[in-house]
Amino acid sequence: MPSEPSKTFYLETFGCQMNVHDSEKVIGTLKQQGYRQVETVEAADLILYNTCSIRDKAEQKVFHRLADYKKLRAQGKTFGVLGCVAQQEGEKIFERAPHVSLVCGSASYRNLPAMLIQIGAGKSRVTGLDDRETDECFETEFTARSNPHRGYITIIEGCDKFCAYCVVPFTRGKERSRTSDSVLSEARQMADLGYTEIQLLGQNVNSYKDPAGKRSFSELLAAVAEVPGIRRVRFTTSHPRDFGRDIVEAIDSVPSLCNHVHLPVQSGSRRVLEAMQRLYTREQYLERIAWIKAAKRDISITTDVIVGFPGETEAEFAETLALMDVVEYDGIFGFKYSPRPNTPALQLEDIIPDSEKTRRLAVLQEKQRQIQKRRNDRHLNEICEVMVEGRNETRKQWVGRTSQNKVLNFSAAQDANPELGGYLFVRATASFPNSLLGEMVV
Ligand code: 5AD
Ligand code: SF4
Repeated sequence: MPSEPSKTFYLETFGCQMNVHDSEKVIGTLKQQGYRQVETVEAADLILYNTCSIRDKAEQKVFHRLADYKKLRAQGKTFGVLGCVAQQEGEKIFERAPHVSLVCGSASYRNLPAMLIQIGAGKSRVTGLDDRETDECFETEFTARSNPHRGYITIIEGCDKFCAYCVVPFTRGKERSRTSDSVLSEARQMADLGYTEIQLLGQNVNSYKDPAGKRSFSELLAAVAEVPGIRRVRFTTSHPRDFGRDIVEAIDSVPSLCNHVHLPVQSGSRRVLEAMQRLYTREQYLERIAWIKAAKRDISITTDVIVGFPGETEAEFAETLALMDVVEYDGIFGFKYSPRPNTPALQLEDIIPDSEKTRRLAVLQEKQRQIQKRRNDRHLNEICEVMVEGRNETRKQWVGRTSQNKVLNFSAAQDANPELGGYLFVRATASFPNSLLGEMVV
């Protein structure tokens, strides 16, 4: 019998879906190199943190973790920092946390095996810090997906938009798309393995440009959704500037394309949008919302909002609240502005106190809670198709998700026994701000 691999690693991921998926690729790559994944820091030889630096709080998390486990260095363990904090802080991480030996940004993951060999050979500090200019995507056939039913595929990496507040263009490098053929062949492989839901990922998915010139973004969406075996395709995140009507048309004509669009607005004020360098006006944003609302299918709309951007007046914040009334979002991720290194917004004055940002965020969230309750009410008595995602033993309920990306908890007759990853129909019988409740339809 082959013996178990002796080298072990532990990996903790912070941040967005791109990071979660990068980690799946890193895990696959390490396993291919003969490493075995373990569940605790104590059991691991190699400890990796895949980090996020979108806001200061996220960045601080990794330094807290590193401080917590500092003493384990004495046991000969190797610590590595991956992801956005690695790219942003670079070699400064070695000063702040001297027990770290590996610092690697996302554009350098393809070099990880070589970097680990160097560490194995006794090198105490190794870095992989590609600058913004890399043209390469991290494509690997060794992705270790953690869910057997739905999985991510990266279609575009990096960002060239340079919004005034955002660190991403500095941490994830320049925008680069994969060929639509390679995306489709990954989708087919996943379908062969039994996946039925695919989520296409990118910082700005709809800025996608096929390097081979074969398919536009909306054509790629339709092509992935038509792969035999694939029943649901999602995509995130869309940038309003590049959001074309053809995306709505694709959703209308291809039923397996989920009827949900995440379209971050960031602010409802024309002046703030300009200061944020978002490349669209409030009016242009609302025009895109009108396209989505005019669709034949009922498309759910979610967004991201930043409150307390430097100089945001009370009246400008009120414009964001007014926009929420116009759009009636199905979900909002609200954030307090956090100053980030390298970003142009650092130069802006008129800093808003944290207590005021907290107040604005609370006002926004309370308003959204009411809107969401209303939005969810409209599903009452509707029969929705859900993918079964889990089981809540305490409540004796199943957890389903609708095509619109809403959580629909449901009960089923004892002999029904829904299967995880299966699809079935549920009648919505009650609604709450963050979920629906229902009963399986037999
Ligand atoms: N401060 C607060 N929120 C931010 N985001 C990006 N950068 C910042 C920042 N500096 C938010 C935006 C983006 C989401 C992923 O994170 O709303 O859409
Ligand atoms: Fe950041 Fe703007 Fe790029 Fe989104 S589009 S990743 S907010 S710079």
